[in-house]
Amino acid sequence: MTSNEIRESFFSFFREKGHVIVPSAPLIPMKDPTLLFTNAGMNQFKDIFLGTVKPDAVRVADTQKCIRVTGKHNDLEEVGHDTYHHTFFEMLGNWSFGDYYKREAIEWAWELVTDRWKLPKDRLYATVFHEDEEAERLWRRVTDIDHGHVLRCGAKDNFWEMGETGPCGPCSELHIDLTPDGSGRDLVNAGDPRVIEFWNLVFIQSERQPDGSLIDLPYRHVDTGMGLERITAVMQGHGSDNYATDLFQPIIRGIEALCGLEQSGEALIPMRVIADHLRTISFAVADGALPSNEGRGYVLRRLVRRAARYGRKLGLTEPFMYKLVPVLVEKMGTVFPELQTHARHVAEVMRSEEESFSRTLDRGIDLFEQISETVKAGGGRRISGDEVFKLYDTFGFPVDLTRLMAEEQGLSIDEEGFEEQMGRQRERARAARSARHPAADLKSLQPLIDAGMTTQFVGYEQMQAAARISAMLVDGALVEEMGEGAHGLAILDRTPFYGESGGQVGDTGWIEGANGVLEVLDTRKAGSLFLHEVRVTQGVLRKNGAVRARVEEPRRRAAMRHHTATHLLQNALHTVLNERSRQAGSYVGPDRLRFDFTHGSALSAEELTQIERMVNSRVVENQPVRTKSLPLEEVKGRNDIIAVFDEKYGEHVRVVEVGDVSRELCGGTHVSATGEIGYFRILTESSIAAGVRRIEAVCGMPAVDLAEREHSVLQRLSQGLSVAVEELPDRITAIQEQMRQLEKKMQSMQADQAANTAASLAKAIDQVHGVSVLVAQVPDMSGTALRTLMDEVRPLAGDGVVVLAAAEEGKVSLICSCGSEAIARGLSAGNLVREMAKQVGGGGGGKPGLAQAGGKDVTALPAALELGKRLIVEGLGSEA
Ligand code: ALA
Repeated sequence: MTSNEIRESFFSFFREKGHVIVPSAPLIPMKDPTLLFTNAGMNQFKDIFLGTVKPDAVRVADTQKCIRVTGKHNDLEEVGHDTYHHTFFEMLGNWSFGDYYKREAIEWAWELVTDRWKLPKDRLYATVFHEDEEAERLWRRVTDIDHGHVLRCGAKDNFWEMGETGPCGPCSELHIDLTPDGSGRDLVNAGDPRVIEFWNLVFIQSERQPDGSLIDLPYRHVDTGMGLERITAVMQGHGSDNYATDLFQPIIRGIEALCGLEQSGEALIPMRVIADHLRTISFAVADGALPSNEGRGYVLRRLVRRAARYGRKLGLTEPFMYKLVPVLVEKMGTVFPELQTHARHVAEVMRSEEESFSRTLDRGIDLFEQISETVKAGGGRRISGDEVFKLYDTFGFPVDLTRLMAEEQGLSIDEEGFEEQMGRQRERARAARSARHPAADLKSLQPLIDAGMTTQFVGYEQMQAAARISAMLVDGALVEEMGEGAHGLAILDRTPFYGESGGQVGDTGWIEGANGVLEVLDTRKAGSLFLHEVRVTQGVLRKNGAVRARVEEPRRRAAMRHHTATHLLQNALHTVLNERSRQAGSYVGPDRLRFDFTHGSALSAEELTQIERMVNSRVVENQPVRTKSLPLEEVKGRNDIIAVFDEKYGEHVRVVEVGDVSRELCGGTHVSATGEIGYFRILTESSIAAGVRRIEAVCGMPAVDLAEREHSVLQRLSQGLSVAVEELPDRITAIQEQMRQLEKKMQSMQADQAANTAASLAKAIDQVHGVSVLVAQVPDMSGTALRTLMDEVRPLAGDGVVVLAAAEEGKVSLICSCGSEAIARGLSAGNLVREMAKQVGGGGGGKPGLAQAGGKDVTALPAALELGKRLIVEGLGSEA
């Protein structure tokens, strides 16, 4: 069976058992902050397990894209060195949400693998958690497995947990013995490729708490995971070599074609690593991740770099991974259409990431080799933390890359020393940021947050509100009052001030008490508290004092216009470019908006005009803007609502609807109808990273200002050139043409002039000891013009010596040329001009044949020329 057939057969088996087949969740977990990447099939069902969400169906099956590179489940180090761990893999799974439990899970697993897929029963082992007698009994009762093949194991292998916290439970795994003689009993769970685990049945019944304790879940569930790559290898007769299956072979053959090597010997590990990483990066980028310096972006960056470095081992020194993307898309694009849709974007991101690393890779490898040589020469076995940090900091070598290269040399690295350096760097970065988010502030705020203090945000409806001061901080310490001139943070029980988030800037304004006034310089959020950065402009403010909070309304309204315009812009991008373009960042301020989005190429002028026009026509239509609150679960399944991964939403989310144009999850503040936007103009469009473009735009009064400025420039041009505005382009083209003609004419006149000057200079050529010599001051001209003149004069003086001098705007220029005869007699143009330049208070020099110099003292020029003449006469007098 091909891998596609195996996947299909899994689905149809469970369909027969009453399961609904659902699509894989994206690799970027939408709302789980404890996860960087989806790492198990159950991630998307976590809330169902925890009992906070009711499932639509109680029996479900699917294939889930998983990435295991960080956290509790991390297989990075094994990849390529063994043949059955991957950073990306597909997990086939069947689920019961409070429906069937251990009995059916075990019975069906056995039926599928032995009856449907005909795996040899005598080669199968089932492990159970050593305390789970029920599972052990069931294996013996409901299947015909050899009783001696049911093994009890400890928590390490048979108690499955999602992460440090979350759903968990005892599990039962199926292993297959691939030894030639079926003697693999003792190799179960021994990390030996001859006996591998391929299916894990987890009986979810508890939740791990942050303090380490377990609590019972309201219902019991089944969560199973079978590695598609592993089962395919087994069924295709490749044992534990997943790379030999039809899932990897097309990619590996693609690598063979690129490097001209075969998949054997030393080429094997690099090819496997590259094939593995290619899949991970491609699927992650297709799901919206981008390489960067932190979080999941850094994981991707590390993978690209590891792969690039393995590529060098195959002689691939130019970016090459991006060329493999089409092969992968061809293989998997039907099952995972997102890969197809974003294929170009994926390749572009990959290529640019490879390009930027390849520039430093060679230099980094050189440095690494120097370091490792030195360590070895000194009899050491370990590379210091400082050196590892230097490779990281200067050459972008992720620590796992350096570790790997060190291991290949039989060396280790000082991980602690490296961490220490990293800690220092983080500290520096923190210090740099602390001007905005002083750590001391956050520390003092923590007890307030723990005690349940919150701020109620009333700014969607109001620009002013009566409130009470709940806390004040100065220099990171809680204070009871703030006097005139003091600068710090104020927290209110309720506030109309929007706290910076979702790209929209924080509000400014005033907080007025009975005895004083605070100016609000900015507003930020810390959890559910709104922090007003304030300065006391008058009087005193006291904790618990009643105040009136007043947002600087014009500024906020301008931000609102830009925010709603951003939604319209995104919608127009989808219409004019394509639905696939995704938001990659944004800034919404009172002065302008900035919107970053994924798109492969620069936008044409026509596209920009079309986008601008589309937004403006929505503005004119004055469509109403409404917001509503929906349960997150409801929103997740809908593709008519735009949601940005990465943003964290609560159980209920706020959906902003702009007429019938756009629907987006958004916590920002918006105008009540699009007409308020007034007018929308795009300022610039540019590239900010591979596959990511940026548009800056303005609306409202800033857009009107722009239009006015442009209008006044056009008026001035039109008056100055005495033509109507519409005729300006033609007139300017005509003027440019005229200028080109004039320039041509001038150049030919200058050439004529130089020839004339040269001809008159020729008359002044003397013969000195049988050599032609010309020393002359010429009319005012620049150094460059003098050089041109020299080109004309030199041939006239044959093989002789020519010195020309000119003065222009208080500067002296000198140029000298010496023919071979003069040089043979010991003269040098370089020496001559240097001596002469000294006379005019300057310097310079050059080759014996031609040299140029300059000086500042115009009055000394005659003396300098006299000196030149004397030196020439003396020099030529001495026979060679
Ligand atoms: N959740 C189980 C695993 O990931 C099936 O292995």
